[in-house]
Amino acid sequence: MMANDNLRIALLGSGGMGQGDVKDALKVEGVEIGAAADVYDSRLDRMKELYPGIVTSRDYREILARPDIDAVIVATPDHWHAQITIDALAAGKDVYCEKPMVQKMEDGKRVIAAAKKSGKIFQMGSQYASAHAFQKIRTLLASGAIGELNMVEAWLDRNTALGAWQYSIPSDATPQNVDWDRFLGNAPKRPFEPIRLFRWRNYRDYGTAVAGDLYVHLFTGLHTATGALGPKRIYSTGGLRYWNDGRDVPDTQIGVIDYDKSEHHPQFQFMLRVNFKSSKPDEDFGYRFIGSEGTITTDVSSHVTVNRTPREQEPGNTADTFSKQIEAQVLREYAAKYPKQTPTPASLGGPSEQRFTVVKDAHMIHMRNFIDAVRSRKPFFEDAEFGFRATGPALLCNTSYFEKRVCFWDAATMTAS
Ligand SMILES: NC(=O)c1ccc[n+]([C@@H]2O[C@H](COP(=O)([O-])OP(=O)(O)OC[C@H]3O[C@@H](n4cnc5c(N)ncnc54)[C@H](O)[C@@H]3O)[C@@H](O)[C@H]2O)c1
Repeated sequence: MMANDNLRIALLGSGGMGQGDVKDALKVEGVEIGAAADVYDSRLDRMKELYPGIVTSRDYREILARPDIDAVIVATPDHWHAQITIDALAAGKDVYCEKPMVQKMEDGKRVIAAAKKSGKIFQMGSQYASAHAFQKIRTLLASGAIGELNMVEAWLDRNTALGAWQYSIPSDATPQNVDWDRFLGNAPKRPFEPIRLFRWRNYRDYGTAVAGDLYVHLFTGLHTATGALGPKRIYSTGGLRYWNDGRDVPDTQIGVIDYDKSEHHPQFQFMLRVNFKSSKPDEDFGYRFIGSEGTITTDVSSHVTVNRTPREQEPGNTADTFSKQIEAQVLREYAAKYPKQTPTPASLGGPSEQRFTVVKDAHMIHMRNFIDAVRSRKPFFEDAEFGFRATGPALLCNTSYFEKRVCFWDAATMTAS
């Protein structure tokens, strides 16, 4: 396939994110949509309203059997990602699969093997791998802008009902216009219950909780910025504090994660947070990289800021805790040993704060990277291994939370314990 050859895509799972993915894919020259699958008829009707003439089906396998489809976007609930991806690769399609790559740990290596065997392009739809903010941070870290990295904080809070997964439940949904068994797939069988389809994230049977939904983004950004393969030790805790709507997952969660030294980075700790309350919209998503000589902060979508406010040159004293007489003596001795210095710009070691503007719209860039990879046959770096190295540790945060224990991850072999 050449640079501008026509590329025909299909959407498998035609809800909120899938429709957004298609919208961005179609902005790339030469991309067309040919088909869509979903288990709820009204979503298929919507796709036909948006893209008249496309083929639709409740059964994604009918779409995969079509020779006129080159690539698919998998945007179903999480519990279907692995199976549809494996089937799509086996059917000879390139795959853009929404994060998290898998719902269950044991499927990670199956997807990696399927991608390798197929020789097709696989990219996880975790768009912060393409965010310019993390490429900038990677360059800054490598140039020693903050000395030696020792800690990273990241948070992705949500301040709205939608952000807390309170999606609309259409009153017309019935077993006639919803293919309920196909939605359930390998999840436990149960009678028709629309809330489980439309708010699937709230149930462990279909989703991956806060960690699978949002920590995957935070791990993706971290690994992109540092070149880290993954952590060694993971502890996560939290609770269900506000959205008591029948969900069986927490709405508030923190993670405390250890990264060992590697060829790409020194040993550091990673602290993650998701809360369904944030103070201001522009404070709901961010990172702070802390090093021996400064910090790098980013809101991911607009700025990266390096702060290198120098340490005070004097070692400091606690003379005022002694009697007046001893205090005076200590201060005299101190002044003789450390004469007052006037800081000069040179002694500050460069500007104390630098602010860089970064390109917005990681999602569009990420989709373009996928389409470029499909056309050039050179995979983007967020392949199945990268995808599992961001997804596996996020899933282990859930294991740690639900089993109340510290978990371990071997990033090289991608094995959990
Ligand atoms: N990259 C991001 O920033 C981002 C943002 C939101 C969602 N996502 C991911 O996208 C995926 C979809 O999330 P969403 O918010 O669009 O959910 P959604 O509920 O709006 O859409 C999922 C769609 O899949 C359909 N579906 C269910 N089972 C199916 C099956 N077996 N075959 C075909 N269709 C099926 C549902 O009917 C629904 O229309 C999730 O995995 C989520 O993690 C990613």
